[in-house]
Amino acid sequence: MLRIKSILENKQPGESLEICGWVRTRRDSKHGFSFIELNDGSCMKNLQIVVDNDVPGYEESIKLVTTGASVKITGTVKESPGKGQRIELQATHLEVLGISDPESFPLQKKKHSFEYLREIAHLRPRSNTFGAIARVRNAASAAIHNFFQENGFLNIQTPIITTSDCEGAGEMFHVTTLDLARLAQAKTEIDYSQDFFGKPASLTVSGQLEAEIFATSLGPCYTFGPTFRAENSNTTRHLAEFWMVEPEVPFADLDDNMRLAEDFIKYVISHVLKSCQEDMEFFNLRIDKTVLETLHHILDHEFKRVSYTDAIEILTSAKKKWEYPVEWGHDLQSEHERYLTEEHFKKPIILHDYPRSIKPFYMRCNEDGKTVRAMDVLVPRIGEIIGGSQREERLDTLEGRMKECNLDPQEYWWYTDLRKYGTVPHSGFGLGFERLIQLLTGMQNIRDCIPFPRTPKNAEF
Ligand code: 4AD
Repeated sequence: MLRIKSILENKQPGESLEICGWVRTRRDSKHGFSFIELNDGSCMKNLQIVVDNDVPGYEESIKLVTTGASVKITGTVKESPGKGQRIELQATHLEVLGISDPESFPLQKKKHSFEYLREIAHLRPRSNTFGAIARVRNAASAAIHNFFQENGFLNIQTPIITTSDCEGAGEMFHVTTLDLARLAQAKTEIDYSQDFFGKPASLTVSGQLEAEIFATSLGPCYTFGPTFRAENSNTTRHLAEFWMVEPEVPFADLDDNMRLAEDFIKYVISHVLKSCQEDMEFFNLRIDKTVLETLHHILDHEFKRVSYTDAIEILTSAKKKWEYPVEWGHDLQSEHERYLTEEHFKKPIILHDYPRSIKPFYMRCNEDGKTVRAMDVLVPRIGEIIGGSQREERLDTLEGRMKECNLDPQEYWWYTDLRKYGTVPHSGFGLGFERLIQLLTGMQNIRDCIPFPRTPKNAEF
C-alpha cells in the first residue's frame, strides 16, 4: 500500500494514486471545496487533500470526514500553492471507511498532557509525539540488530519463564497455575510440586545466564527481549516490564566490555539521527531543546572511565547537598549519577569496580576482596543506561560468592557446569531499551517510551 511518506518524498504532479489514512483536520472553504489533512503514521507530516464539491457523493461524505475518521481517497498529485508542502492531492474519489464522533473523540486538536495520553494509550499513537516515539523505537531496534549482526553476534531467544533469579534481588513476578483463592482458605504451606512446573517459577529479570550458555559454546551472542521486575519503584526511570538488550562475549574482559558498550550506544544514536531526522527535529523543538545537542555531544566524546571508588571521592568532595548520603559501599542514587555525568564530567561515563556487597553473585571478584569487575554506563539526563560486568569464571570463587549471596550452587548446577567444562573469561552487559528511548527522544518519563507501560497498580490495555 502506498504511504504518505513515500508520496511526499517521491510523487510528482500529474501522477494518480490511492491513499488511506486517518483525518487530522478538515477545513471547508466558502468556495465549495474542502481541505483534509491526512495522516497514516508513516511520517510526522500530513498529506493535504483538496476535495472539490463535484467529487461524487461530496455532500453526504464530507460531513463524515471529521478528526479521527478513516478514509480512502483517490486523486491526482498537484503542485501545492500553499506554504509548507511541495505537493497536495486533488481528490477524484472519497470513501469514508470509519466514522469518528467529533464530540467524543478523545484526542482533540489541543495539546494534551502525557498523563492524560497514558489513559488513552489505545489512541495515543495517533498523536504526533507518540507516532514519533514509535518510529524512533523501531529505528533503534533495527540499529541494535544491525550492530550485532554486522559484528558477528548470534541472536539468542532466552526464556521468559524461569526458575532462577539472575540478579538475586528477589524482585520477581511469580508464575503459577495454583488456585490462590483456595490456597488462601486452606492456610497450609504451598506445595509447589503441585504447580505447573513442579517448583516455584517466575518471569525473568534478565536473559544473561542463558546468554552465557550460548556465548561459551558459540561465541558472541545477544538477547533482546522483555524482562520483568516486581520492584515497587514509582519513578520516571522504572518500569515493571521493560525490554533489555544483553550481549555476552567470551574471551573478553571488562575493558573489552566497556569498548563494546561505547561503540554500541554510539552506533545506535548515529543510526537514529540519520534515519529519523524529521522526528528528531520534532523532539528537539517540542520536547527537549537540548536533545540533539546532547546526542551529538555523546557521539563526539570518548566515554570517561572512572572507578566507583574515585566517583565516591568526587561526590564527597562536591559542594552539593545530597538527598541520599554518599558513602563507599552504598549504591549510587540517580542524583549522584546525574551529577557525575551532567555536571562533573559533562559526558557519558563508565563507572567500574563496584563494591562486591552491592552487586550480584556472577560478577568477577577482584584481588582486593572488596570489589567486583562491574560497570555501569551513565548518560546525561538518565543516569544508568547500561549495567554489566566481567563474569566470574573460576568455579571455586563463583560457588563461594553464591553462598555469600545465600544462593544454593546446586540450584545453579548448569551455570556452574560452564565453569567446570572449558571455562573462559567472558563479559557482557544489559541496556535498558526504554532508557535508551528516553535518551534519544528527550521524553521525561519512561512510561511514555514504551507502547503500553506496566508499573505498580497499572496494567491497562
Ligand atoms: O543493571 P541491570 O539490573 O543488569 C542486569 O540485569 C544484567 N543481568 C545485565 C547483563 O549483564 N546482561 O539492568 C540492566 C539495565 C539497566 O542499566 C537499566 O538501563 C535497565 O536495564 N533497567 C530498567 N529499565 C527500566 N525499568 C527498570 N525497572 C529497570 N531495571 C533495569
